[in-house]
Amino acid sequence: MSARAAVFGPQLESASRYVDILAGRGIEWGLIGPRERERLWDRHILNSAALADLVPHGSSVVDVGSGAGLPGIPLAIARPDLRIDLLEPLLRRTNFLTQAVDELGITNRVRVVRGRAEDHRERYDVVVSRALAPLERLVRWCDPLRAPGGSILALKGRTAGDELAAATRLLAARRLTGEVLSVRAHPSVEPTTVIRLTTTR
Ligand SMILES: C[S@@+](CC[C@H](N)C(=O)[O-])C[C@H]1O[C@@H](n2cnc3c(N)ncnc32)[C@H](O)[C@@H]1O
Repeated sequence: MSARAAVFGPQLESASRYVDILAGRGIEWGLIGPRERERLWDRHILNSAALADLVPHGSSVVDVGSGAGLPGIPLAIARPDLRIDLLEPLLRRTNFLTQAVDELGITNRVRVVRGRAEDHRERYDVVVSRALAPLERLVRWCDPLRAPGGSILALKGRTAGDELAAATRLLAARRLTGEVLSVRAHPSVEPTTVIRLTTTR
């Protein structure tokens, strides 16, 4: 079985539909670079779905700085038990997200919210993001959105370890413990790096 089929199961058709939306309107509207067309599955969809194993069943989730819906939409497709808010300040992007969520038929549990993290007042079990900001700024934006006992999952590149080390004092002040995890949606795909932040015990 392909990684796509194993990860998305009965939702594979929905995931493929989202890939088509990214490859069409996503590129037309300038939300996705044209060179990404060939690597949408590996670099964007499966990379986002790698978070699925780190999110407890039935969680409320916010994707901060969702852009074209990454990682929130693949996560929502892979995990029908989750309720997800896609938080994004730019109108063009929220218009794209609203249409995509509507076309994918997931409006019952995925909401598009236009706004900036620092102005948003709700709390969630899990706060996810990808390519949002350097870790210290990300923590200032995302920690207030985390419900007590919840977690922050930030998809990061190779700098994850250095960013975590540089944020030691801020994390201690907020009683947060950080770890760098290497996760993958399926054994046949490249692992991706996630910083997980949880309350210090
Ligand atoms: C580099 S893009 C990443 C988009 C998407 N997460 C991805 O991985 O493709 C960063 C996104 O964060 C959004 N953003 C910037 N400042 C923000 C803020 N203060 N609160 C929430 N989102 C913000 C931007 O509008 C942009 O869509």
